[in-house]
Amino acid sequence: MDTAMETILKRKSVRAYEDKAIDTVVKEQILHAAMRAPTAGNLMLYSIIEVNDRAKKGTLAKTCDNQPFIARAPWVLLFLADYQRWYDYFLYCGVEEFAVRNGLKLRRPEEGDLFLACCDALIAAQTAVIAAESLGIGSCYIGDIMEKYEEHRALFNLPPYTFPICLLCFGYPTAGQLRRRQTTRFDPGFIVFSDSYRRLGPEEFAEMFKDEHRRVFKDRAEINGVRNVGQAVYRRKFATDFTLEMNRSVRAILKNWRGK
Ligand SMILES: Cc1cc2nc3c(=O)[nH]c(=O)nc-3n(C[C@H](O)[C@H](O)[C@H](O)COP(=O)(O)O)c2cc1C
Repeated sequence: MDTAMETILKRKSVRAYEDKAIDTVVKEQILHAAMRAPTAGNLMLYSIIEVNDRAKKGTLAKTCDNQPFIARAPWVLLFLADYQRWYDYFLYCGVEEFAVRNGLKLRRPEEGDLFLACCDALIAAQTAVIAAESLGIGSCYIGDIMEKYEEHRALFNLPPYTFPICLLCFGYPTAGQLRRRQTTRFDPGFIVFSDSYRRLGPEEFAEMFKDEHRRVFKDRAEINGVRNVGQAVYRRKFATDFTLEMNRSVRAILKNWRGK
């Protein structure tokens, strides 16, 4: 078995899978590892939905910005930030009467509670990723699960104090995926700061994107109206229909969470 460090350093996202089911025992091991992840206040502010139904996977492949490999993934997990379970339990335990009797503020889950629950869910998800990797199983996050909230709410019967924060696809990597190169990362000098935040200036940006600029543009000044990496990413990732939909959808989730 690899050391933890080797597993972390060799991981890459896997989007094509062998036609091989993942054993129930192996799934249980991965879920067990996920649930051993740190969790705020030891409250486990998340739920995990195993998406076993073929039709539901097929729907997700469309609703998550048309990514067909989701339907082909042998194992799909939906991670929810979840305060519903605790809030329901609070009500079951009579906290309304308790709050009045003890002069405590009666409150519902708010935005801060949601962010904390998102931290919990994502930490559990990433622990599942690393556990799977250590067992030879590849994975890929699907951030587009934050889109199309109304459809996902109906598909998974989501109550108001849940937030579908990420979807994970798992499967044994194909030979092609195993051969594929890892993606690059920025130099730590642009990412890791000492003691306080440091905004980057023009020279540092030029240095930060030098290699990527050369790789994409070679000696060309412009490609289809795009002149640098920032413009390319702005067009391809930031100002796209799917990011507009994600922001609309997240506003709808927040509205529901706030009970409006
Ligand atoms: C929050 C999040 C959302 C992501 N969403 C998607 C997605 O919808 N589709 C996809 O193919 N990859 C998705 N990815 C995978 C990234 O594209 C991938 O991690 C990145 O390109 C770096 O490659 P690597 O994981 O192989 O190192 C997502 C990753 C994260 C962390």
